[in-house]
Amino acid sequence: MKTLHFFALMLIIVISTPLVSQDGNNETSAYLTVDATGTETISRHIYGHFSEHLGHCIYGGYWVGYDSEIPNTRGIRNDVVEALRNIAIPNLRWPGGCFADEYHWMDGIGDPAARPKMVNTHWGGVTEDNSFGTHEFMELCEQLGTEPVICGNVGSGTIKEMSQWVEYLNFDGISPMSDLRRVNGRESAWGVKYWGVGNENWGCGGNMTADFYADQYRRYATYCRNYGDNRLFKIAGGANSEDFGWTETLMKKIPHHMMNGISLHYYTTDWNNKGPATGFGEDHYFDVLKRCLHIEGAIDQHMEIMDKFDPEKRVALVFDEWGTWYDVEPGTNPGFLYQQNSMRDALVAGLTLNYLNARCERVRMANIAQTINVLQALIFTDGDQMVLTPTYHIYDMYQVHHDATLLPQTLEGPDYVLDSESLPAISASASMDQDGRIHLSLVNIDPGKAIDIQVELKGKSSAKVTGQLLSSEMMDSHNSFAQPEEVVPVVFEEARFKKGKLELTIPAHSVIVLQVD
Ligand code: AHR
Repeated sequence: MKTLHFFALMLIIVISTPLVSQDGNNETSAYLTVDATGTETISRHIYGHFSEHLGHCIYGGYWVGYDSEIPNTRGIRNDVVEALRNIAIPNLRWPGGCFADEYHWMDGIGDPAARPKMVNTHWGGVTEDNSFGTHEFMELCEQLGTEPVICGNVGSGTIKEMSQWVEYLNFDGISPMSDLRRVNGRESAWGVKYWGVGNENWGCGGNMTADFYADQYRRYATYCRNYGDNRLFKIAGGANSEDFGWTETLMKKIPHHMMNGISLHYYTTDWNNKGPATGFGEDHYFDVLKRCLHIEGAIDQHMEIMDKFDPEKRVALVFDEWGTWYDVEPGTNPGFLYQQNSMRDALVAGLTLNYLNARCERVRMANIAQTINVLQALIFTDGDQMVLTPTYHIYDMYQVHHDATLLPQTLEGPDYVLDSESLPAISASASMDQDGRIHLSLVNIDPGKAIDIQVELKGKSSAKVTGQLLSSEMMDSHNSFAQPEEVVPVVFEEARFKKGKLELTIPAHSVIVLQVD
């Protein structure tokens, strides 16, 4: 009888022990517990974009001009608009970047033939002919069905200039700027809400100190007026990666009623040795993912500082530039920041979006850099051709998290180990949409091991499960104009409820998004 008890006990222990063990790097199992309800909303604006006058992002990427043979609507490429509408991009930040602080918006309105030309000193020293300006950008946002996020010029522009831009865009009555807008063909105000007051003002935006910028912000922001019912959401130019002092100074010196958000920029790169976008070894693969995960902790530190001054979380953290940054593709203009985009970039996107979801209480906007042909692009264009990158497919699969309720989770899983370093191999995020469906996004960064995962969904022990998988043969598999479908999502049907738990295997270096009805 005693023996029987012993074996029964052992059986219970084996069955109820999570698949993951606490010690072994060799373990290939993970255990995720997801709560049935949550209180925070994942703002769709976390899935925002950034497009600068840089390389072929605007010119050739969106804008081909009225006379182009590439199919377009009022100068904007139809294929790109359709692709971005398919992933419901919630916002688009423009015109920079560093370009923003040398952009004078009045050069980009009126008769295109009469618009002055300028040198784009930051990006390749090319001539900017200002053919894509305010009206063209607002037309683009209307075609995309997306919210404009405009970054004004603090570095080399005047308070008057910024104030007039807001008036031009947003005032419906009679005034010098609204009259000018009408002369230029637009009767009603656009009502732009999201307004950046400078960009990287610690660097290309004027090389200011945090104290100086905070004072400048107060002056510039004062004259960015609200017109009619429109309430500007003003974003202060925030810190570079781990410059916590910058965040602290701005939180301390800028009255919180004057600032709705404070930005943060972080690029996943080794500035001394960026390395190639494809054709890399495992060392470089590991290093990029390590740097991507590293910012998670840094974001927490910025948030702690913000909590200290703003415990009610009135001021949003706006992560308005992030993404991978590698060596440019051989033979391309170094100032154009054109790089390939592989499965590794899809993993970076999946990890980043998972950890931004988890911080949605404070992080209420983020913008990947940059949408087309630049840095971690979602789309490449070449003449009339267009190709979607693995990063695009992540944004497609993750749409389900837009404005959904974040479901709190706990995750135990194995490490991905290289030499003496290790990273958590699995990342997850869970949300519930307005129809009560649960969505799980799961990332496995281990390039060599598939990982079994058991998911305990509290309050759900069986349901219909559907899914999509993005995986690839190689770590650096990518899409090209010749092979546009090398890395594309496929239907994933291998997730099943067994004894009340959802079970599946996540292939090496892959991302899965599941829907549980
Ligand atoms: O995205 C490229 C550049 O990176 C942006 O112009 C600038 O803000 C950042 O340094």
